[in-house]
Amino acid sequence: MKGVILAGGLGTRLHPLTGVTNKHLLPIYDRPMIYYPIQCLINAGLREIIIVTGGEHAGDFLKLLGNGKKLGIRELHYTYQEGEGGIADALGLAEDFAEGDKICVVLGDNIIEKNIRQPVGEFFTQPSGARILLKEVSDPQRFGVPRIEDGRIVEVLEKPADPPSRYAVTGIYMYDNDVFDITRTLKPSNRGELEITDVNNEYIRRGDLTYSILNGWWTDAGTFESLYRANCLVAEGGANHVDDDAKTNAPLLSN
Ligand code: DAU
Repeated sequence: MKGVILAGGLGTRLHPLTGVTNKHLLPIYDRPMIYYPIQCLINAGLREIIIVTGGEHAGDFLKLLGNGKKLGIRELHYTYQEGEGGIADALGLAEDFAEGDKICVVLGDNIIEKNIRQPVGEFFTQPSGARILLKEVSDPQRFGVPRIEDGRIVEVLEKPADPPSRYAVTGIYMYDNDVFDITRTLKPSNRGELEITDVNNEYIRRGDLTYSILNGWWTDAGTFESLYRANCLVAEGGANHVDDDAKTNAPLLSN
């Protein structure tokens, strides 16, 4: 399995902070935002990672991360998203990198307290399809929200005014290689983007979407409120980077 970090988009909700660098390089307490999704994938046992980025400051990633070796990445790839066509548009750019393998996708502004080793391990043995991670939140209308019936997700709604559950679909997704055929079929939403929620709904239609509930806290960091909250959560309680033994203990899920 390979890791994909989506760090494109223009970060307009964080102007003027994003006037001088990419949103995913802004500080979250003691390190740049992008370190957290990288560590999330490393802790899950993935060592081949691609970062999809975009905008005017894409070169800053190379300055910061180089070839990724010092962070424990064996192979770090980069690609560039023109414009801001949506999360599923950015994901489509990882097709050649995936080379037919399953992938674990993490949005570049998502930060978790613990690790995702168990759901990633479960998806590793899942014969096909997709697996998403849910987290109960107080403000589900800000996110993708699942409608759950008899323990199965029957639909995901993107930022619903009237959420059908208290769960957010977090920005951590696992897909088989069909995901790239699916992204090619998508049409832009009302906000002009190819939506990851439409990808997940296609897997539901195929009867091939599973889910897990994420352990520990989870936050995004794409607005001033959530950026501040992410800083406080990391400063107060640490985040997945404290999982120091991961490099030796996580089973390697890539070559
Ligand atoms: O954080 C989880 C939520 O992320 C999910 O619950 C939603 O279903 C999903 O649509 C997404 O919602 P947001 O509206 O918060 O996504 P946002 O536009 O802030 O983008 C999140 C990350 O995705 C961003 O940090 C980088 C990446 N991205 C986004 C866009 C629009 C790209 O790489 N390219 C893009 O064009």
